[in-house]
Amino acid sequence: MLAAQLAPLESLDRDQAANDPRLTRDLTQPEPVPAAGIARALELMQNGRLHRYGETGGRGSESALLEEEFAASVGAKYCVAMSSCGATLFAALKALGVKPGDPVLSSAFTLAPVPGAIAHANARGVLVEMTDDYTLDLADLERKAAASGARVLLLSHMRGHISDLTAVAALCQRLGVALIEDCAHTMGAHWDGRPTGTFGAIGCFSAQTYKHINSGEGGLLVTNDDDIAAQVILMSGSYMLYGQHLLRPSDAVFERWRYTTPNFSLRMSTLAAALLRPQLALLPQRAQQWNALYAALEQALSGIAHLRLPVRPPKEQFVASSIQFQLDLDGEALQVFLAACGARGLHIKWFGVEAPQGFTSNFEHWRYLEPAVLPHSRALMRGLCDVRIPLSLTQDECVVIGRIVRLAIAAATA
Ligand SMILES: Cc1ncc(COP(=O)(O)O)c(C=O)c1O
Repeated sequence: MLAAQLAPLESLDRDQAANDPRLTRDLTQPEPVPAAGIARALELMQNGRLHRYGETGGRGSESALLEEEFAASVGAKYCVAMSSCGATLFAALKALGVKPGDPVLSSAFTLAPVPGAIAHANARGVLVEMTDDYTLDLADLERKAAASGARVLLLSHMRGHISDLTAVAALCQRLGVALIEDCAHTMGAHWDGRPTGTFGAIGCFSAQTYKHINSGEGGLLVTNDDDIAAQVILMSGSYMLYGQHLLRPSDAVFERWRYTTPNFSLRMSTLAAALLRPQLALLPQRAQQWNALYAALEQALSGIAHLRLPVRPPKEQFVASSIQFQLDLDGEALQVFLAACGARGLHIKWFGVEAPQGFTSNFEHWRYLEPAVLPHSRALMRGLCDVRIPLSLTQDECVVIGRIVRLAIAAATA
């Protein structure tokens, strides 16, 4: 109804545009793959060597080179390129010895591939409450670790919100809990100067289209541990061609694992790796662009009644590819808000949605896990809004988004 009431954009002059703001940009549009990646991908397609291994000629594949370059970028000893971040999370759990029925601590605020990886390992998810700033509640972590006896924490830096990793790592050490960082939303990000993904035993990154680098699908697992690296390489599907990895532990380490580690066939192709390698070099510059847009949006959204933005401490050196905010509106008012934004071209994702929708779901929808009672996270989900930040967004459009949100809140609370 609201859409029908709005005049077409072309008919608006400047003053009207300020009073009747519209967004025409598709917030889901990714950046093109750099020309060097396209050229290399074409070469690979012409010679057909799209599988990273070969009985001959498999050494130094694009996948192996990407592993070297990514490991160097975060200062890790090993990196294993896989088919998705979800695949790396699963392999991480298996490599840490998680057995069917074992409890695994994890974040209440995350997306479906994370509880999915726990279910894939036949483990039992024990979800930990989130804070008002979308990070992990460390007091609840300590309680749940003691109550469940879990030996592993799969921590999601969901939507790029980074918990105090110095404190998390120290707490995990004290509790005897191994830490896996889900860095699907924190490639290129740091906590207090140190790259995310390097605070625990394993870090897992995504190269899926809507992340910081894009090969359609892809995952990168980093670790400094020889036995974890050997197992993950074997699990990813190296067969006995693990010698073709440029970053790998010694043959003696593989000897400990090669008869007992299943091949789960979760490799990354050379094609995906070829697309990603030139994107890695662009990451620092893109991080600056993303964060400039985040700052503009933060400014455009600040000082609006009923809306709270998360507090982001200086040690949290995030790379924003989306922005989240909290609305203290009841269910009906929230629906009016979302419809009013949608009518002006701003499509907001809402974590309080009744049924899972599109990419969005919350812990109450994951019925394959044991039901979790998380009152604080539940209350936060009810008002949690999420907006993508494509690199093509302009500073002017950030102002337009602020205006749209302001008007929609006014409409919802009128
Ligand atoms: C928080 C989070 N973790 C992990 C993943 C899994 O990433 P992938 O799609 O590469 O499997 C996603 C995917 O959207 C995610 O949002």
